[in-house]
Amino acid sequence: MRVTIQQIQDMKRHGEKIPMLTAYDYPTARILDDAKIPLLLVGDSLGNVVLGYETTVPVTLEDMIHHTKAVARGAKTPHVIGDMPFLTYQTSIPDALRNAGRFMQEAGANSVKLEGGAIMAETVNALVERGIPVMGHLGLTPQSVNQIGLRAQGRTIDAAQKLLEDAVILQDAGAYAVVLEAVPATLAKMITERLSIPTIGIGAGPDCDGQVQVISDMLGLFTDFVPKHVKQYAHLAESMRDAINNYMVDVAEGSFPTLEHSFTFSNGVEEELVQELKKKIR
Ligand code: KIV
Repeated sequence: MRVTIQQIQDMKRHGEKIPMLTAYDYPTARILDDAKIPLLLVGDSLGNVVLGYETTVPVTLEDMIHHTKAVARGAKTPHVIGDMPFLTYQTSIPDALRNAGRFMQEAGANSVKLEGGAIMAETVNALVERGIPVMGHLGLTPQSVNQIGLRAQGRTIDAAQKLLEDAVILQDAGAYAVVLEAVPATLAKMITERLSIPTIGIGAGPDCDGQVQVISDMLGLFTDFVPKHVKQYAHLAESMRDAINNYMVDVAEGSFPTLEHSFTFSNGVEEELVQELKKKIR
């Protein structure tokens, strides 16, 4: 049985911090499952860190369904959240229902995440009323990159007040939790104290109820640019480069494979084959 939204909300009530990571494939989901992470997001950051796009805008519903299915196969206990990609929910409530329904029914997600505040309230409510739990996402909303850029949000009085209002509106609309991305730590703390639902921060300071990171960032899969909010807990790019170089050297030198990695005949076959070949040569 997967972790439920009630269990996630209980963690806030009990003052227990909520760790969340992204995953995009089966092997990573299995490792996260073993680690007993409670929340797993198949983020549309897939576009940036797996598919090589510059932004999340080109990510399609089919991309997301495909990867969510793989994650859902590997994640036995974490709550799996499917991230609704650009223009799969902003266009109309029927579109949002149909597309969120695919995440739940086809892909095996337990809830969906969507970006936006007051403007998305009716959509959030329509999904929740029909049995689809929704996680909100405020602050830096990457699908709006062409409108707002990729900079921190909520840094002026007006913007901070709007963000606080949006958070309350999402909660009232029925969202079970809300991601706060790249907002001042003090504002995130205020929102966290004001809401009864959990806040999950990314670049939003230490006082959110939970934290989310893009797994490729925290494992150090990219070395060219490390965003300010990222702490690298491993340096996988270096480890992978070293492993690949060692493999190429071993192949070039003939030290891989050895007999240990090779197959043998069944008992007696080798001797018989040698005799057969000898007869043919004669
Ligand atoms: O797509 C994603 O990975 C996200 C997280 C950064 C919250 O939305």
